[in-house]
Amino acid sequence: MADVSEANERRLDVSGEAGNGSSAVWAIVAAAGSGERLGIDRPKAFAALGGRPLLAESLDRLDRCELVDAIVVAAPPGWEEPCILLAEELAASKVVACVTGGATRAESVAAALAEVPEEALVVLVHDAARPLVDDALVERLLGPLAEGFDGAVPVLPVADTLKRIRDGAVVETVAREGLAAAQTPQAFLAPALRRGFSQELADATDCASLVERAGGTVAVVEGDPRLLKITTTADLALVESLLQAT
Ligand code: CTP
Ligand code: MG
Repeated sequence: MADVSEANERRLDVSGEAGNGSSAVWAIVAAAGSGERLGIDRPKAFAALGGRPLLAESLDRLDRCELVDAIVVAAPPGWEEPCILLAEELAASKVVACVTGGATRAESVAAALAEVPEEALVVLVHDAARPLVDDALVERLLGPLAEGFDGAVPVLPVADTLKRIRDGAVVETVAREGLAAAQTPQAFLAPALRRGFSQELADATDCASLVERAGGTVAVVEGDPRLLKITTTADLALVESLLQAT
């Protein structure tokens, strides 16, 4: 994995603090998905949102966030160069590398994590598919890490009644109590995230599940209802309207 990502890596020609490996808080932006359910002629990260690529929104917001020191992007295969150009256009100088993503989200995050230096203290992992990330949430996520947790994830209460279904029929109604929906960004102490990623990655739908499986403690913080995940064109329109309302 490390060899592959090194071979495919494209470095940004930016100088400054973020590139010297001494930064404390790194953000990984998982942007390498194909966006099959969106069904457009390009990867989801390059779908238009408010007149610019979807990825621009997360990059811009994380770059301007004072709590974030450096950013690594996992790009869709073949879209590394456009990712770098986008970061340059945005003057997002904290973006220090764009690596080629993998076949799954976890593999994309692993490729980006290989670029995060050993000295990093905290790694935030964010999905480009959730453009409306904000400073307040990043601040909420870092709190539990200072209190001894290995990780923190934003969650929202589950509003709908949950059904377990099989072959088109309900098998069971799942009690909602104690269940929550997890969002990104998720924040981790760097060593705990690396331990999580040293395991089998298959079946991991988020980073926290890997950290949990490796014995790490993961706290929850209040999520943000605006931090919708864009899956279909209807989601794009909805987020676009939220963006215009700000
Ligand atoms: N992702 C990634 N590498 C992959 C798959 C997904 O970095 N191999 C990222 C996506 O770019 C996205 C996030 O993980 O920001 C969540 O994935 P999802 O919303 O499922 O996006 P896609 O996989 O691109 O969409 P689809 O499942 O419809 O193809
Ligand atoms: Mg997907």
